[in-house]
Parts: sequence; C-alpha cells; structure tokens
Amino acid sequence: MILSGTMQINSKQHLEIGGCDTVALAEEFGTPLYVMDEEQVRENCRRYLQAMQKKYPRGKILYAGKAFLVLAMAKLVAEEGLGLDVVSGGELYTALKAGFPAEHLYFHGNNKSRQELLEALEAKIGRIVVDSFSELQELQELSASRRQKVDVLLRVKPGIEAHTHDYIQTGREDSKFGLGFSEAREAVRQILSAAPYLELRGFHCHIGSQIFQLEPYRLAAKAMLDFMSEVRAETGYVASELDLGGGLGIRYTQGDNPPSIETFVETVAAAVQDEAEQRKYPLPELLLEPGRSITGEAGITLYRVGVIKEVPGVRCYVSVDGGMMDNIRPALYQARYEAMIANKALQEPVKTVTIAGKACESGDLLLVDTCLPPVEKGDLLAVFSTGAYCYAMASNYNRNPRPPVVFVRNGKPRVVVRRETYGDLLTLEEL
Ligand code: LLP
Repeated sequence: MILSGTMQINSKQHLEIGGCDTVALAEEFGTPLYVMDEEQVRENCRRYLQAMQKKYPRGKILYAGKAFLVLAMAKLVAEEGLGLDVVSGGELYTALKAGFPAEHLYFHGNNKSRQELLEALEAKIGRIVVDSFSELQELQELSASRRQKVDVLLRVKPGIEAHTHDYIQTGREDSKFGLGFSEAREAVRQILSAAPYLELRGFHCHIGSQIFQLEPYRLAAKAMLDFMSEVRAETGYVASELDLGGGLGIRYTQGDNPPSIETFVETVAAAVQDEAEQRKYPLPELLLEPGRSITGEAGITLYRVGVIKEVPGVRCYVSVDGGMMDNIRPALYQARYEAMIANKALQEPVKTVTIAGKACESGDLLLVDTCLPPVEKGDLLAVFSTGAYCYAMASNYNRNPRPPVVFVRNGKPRVVVRRETYGDLLTLEEL
C-alpha cells in the first residue's frame, strides 16, 4: 500500500487524504473521482525549490504542465514560485487564464503551429524552446515582422535515453524531438548570424520519464557541457542557461524505489557544477522540469465497484465505474498500479482479482492480478499514484463524461474541475 503525503487510515478504517474521508468524498462528489492531496503537491514544489536553492542557487524549477494542468494547478504553481513548461496553445491559454506570470512560461513542442508561436509572442512568454530548423526560421520571421525580440532555448538530443529501470546511450538520434549535436551546432550558427530577433539563452534536453537511475542525468550533463564547450570553441557563444528536462520517477507499486527529490536535484546540480568546472565554463543557470514527481503520488482515483464476475478456474474480474477513459496508462504502457478498498482499509488482502474498467474493450484492465480483501459490489476502490498523466490524458471514450477533480487540504475538499454532464458531451455538436 502506498500511502504518501497526508494519506492515512482513519478510525473508521477508511482511507483518508488531505484530512478527508474518501468514503465521504465519494458520497459527496460521486465516482469515479480524482482526488489530489494539495499539501503534498505544494510540499513537492517546495522540496524541489529548496533543494535547488541549497545546491545550485542559480537554479530554477519549472513544473511540466503536461502531467496535470488545470486553472487551479497553474495558480498553485505560481503561488509556490515555480515556472511552468507548456507544450500547446491550450496549455498556454490555461496558464495565462490562471494569471500565471508570462515571463516564467517556457514553451516546448516539436510542431508548434504558427498560431501557437504567435500566441506565445503576443503573451511575451519567458522562453520558446526551439525544436527544429523550420521553427527557427518561422519564429525569426514572426518576431522580425513584429519587431519583437524573443528569448529562446535550443532543444538538443544528447544521445542518452533513460527508462524506468534502464538507460541506453545511443549514437542513433531517432527521436522526433530536438536536434542532434551537429544539427544543433548549425542551428546555433544560424541564430547567431542570421536571426537577430532570436536571443539564444541556452540549451535544453530531456532524457525520458519515470527514471529511477541518476547515472543517465550525469551522462546528460556531461554530454551537454561537451557540446556547449565545442560551441564555445567554434563560435565564442557561451550559454547562460541549461535546462535538463524532467523525468524523475515515482512509486506506482511498492517495488518502485525512485531517488528522493533532494537526491535527484543534488546529483544533477553536482554533475553540472563538476562538468562546467572541468571545462572552465561559466556556470549556467540550471533548470529542471519535473511533472510526474510533483503531482503523481499526490493523486488517487476513487471508483465504485460494480459487477464481480468469477470466471471459474481463470480469474475474478472486478469491474469499476471508470477505466481507460480516466486512466489510459495501463492499456497504453502496461503501467502497473496498486489499489485498496478504501472502505475496508485495514482488512487483510485475501484474494487475487483483476480490476476491469467499464469501456467496451477487453484490454481495459486497470490492475491485473492484485490482492485485495473480500470485495463486494458497492465497495470503494482507491487506485494510488494517479495524479500525473491520468486526468491529462483522459478521454470521453464510449461517451463517458470525465470525472471531476477535487483538491483536498486540511479536511476541506474543493472542486477544481466539475464532473462533465451528458450535456457537456454534446456542447460542440450540431444536428
Ligand atoms: N520536459 C519535457 C521536455 C518533457 O517531454 C517531459 C515529459 C517533461 C519535462 C516531464 O517529465 P516528467 O517529470 O513528468 O517525467 N504520458 C507518459 C509520460 C510522457 C512524458 C512526456 N514528456 C506517461 O503517462 O507515463
């Protein structure tokens, strides 16, 4: 059982989060229900900032909005003093509507449209992370026609790819994101010589997500500083910013053992300091872009148990009232989760069951072979670590309205996204 942040079992033997009884939350707001432990999210923001402040005072933390971004989250991130990484006009719009300070917005993406670039220029956001030659040219044209200088980072592929339990260094640069080192050198030359409206502030890379090892980050820091030194030797250009992306993993199951936020930040900070010192490179501002490790473990999803089907000699399917439409990750990535029966939180697990969603799709299984106490129709199932990439990737598959998102803190719930209605499903449609 993964009880993180403010999660605990209360005297009624119910799961509690943010001081709220999950059974009461489900009654009040219905199921499925995304619940976010606001204090834990804020705490994670502060841990990142403090670790950075301590080990690398010229550092900055950007929350990667793709993990979970709604108005309330953008506001929270601003209140905690982090910057924000956005990847679409929609995320940018959300951030601006929440009053997020434009100068702390960083715009990523491998195929930003002209319209999106214009929106970013219009809003005078902090940085645009240029991902291709075509974007470089388009952005130069747009900013020149507006006579508006724009601060950019250049996204580079450092040839290191990390996954949860593994990483690879590869000469192959088979990724749709960013530019390989030699292309990036050419892009730098172009910016310096032919793009007077683009102010190159430095470089960006991102090596993967749900990463448990720190070595790939050390290698990325080394590779980036090698690249930066070569660029300096060739052109005299010295980068003032280095953004090493996000990727720190979280606990989905008890077997998961990611490094702490502090260890992660310390390691990256030390690696950048060492590599810079070795090359007598002026210490750049260091940026990190965590998404999952800020919201992931802080979120749970509550489901009501419906049909229980025993397939004799095969398995027991326990169906819940949500599924792949509110959490696509098991179907998409074979992602593993843990769950508990929130109204029987202290009962011994006795039976192995498979938790099925309600989508018309055999692959809609949220947890395969998980051991739970005796399950009955009407029980409340809590799935842990659903705070990142679940609401963000939710769909209306089978015309299921999307669940609401409730922030809980100090015993008080607040709805930050209301439940969709059947009417909402039809708002864009005409007959
Ligand atoms: N920065 C960049 C440029 C990224 O591409 C990403 C994630 C992040 C930061 C944040 O990474 P995080 O700290 O959250 O690992 N949908 C997938 C995850 C896709 C991540 C894509 N990029 C999932 O559900 O596992």
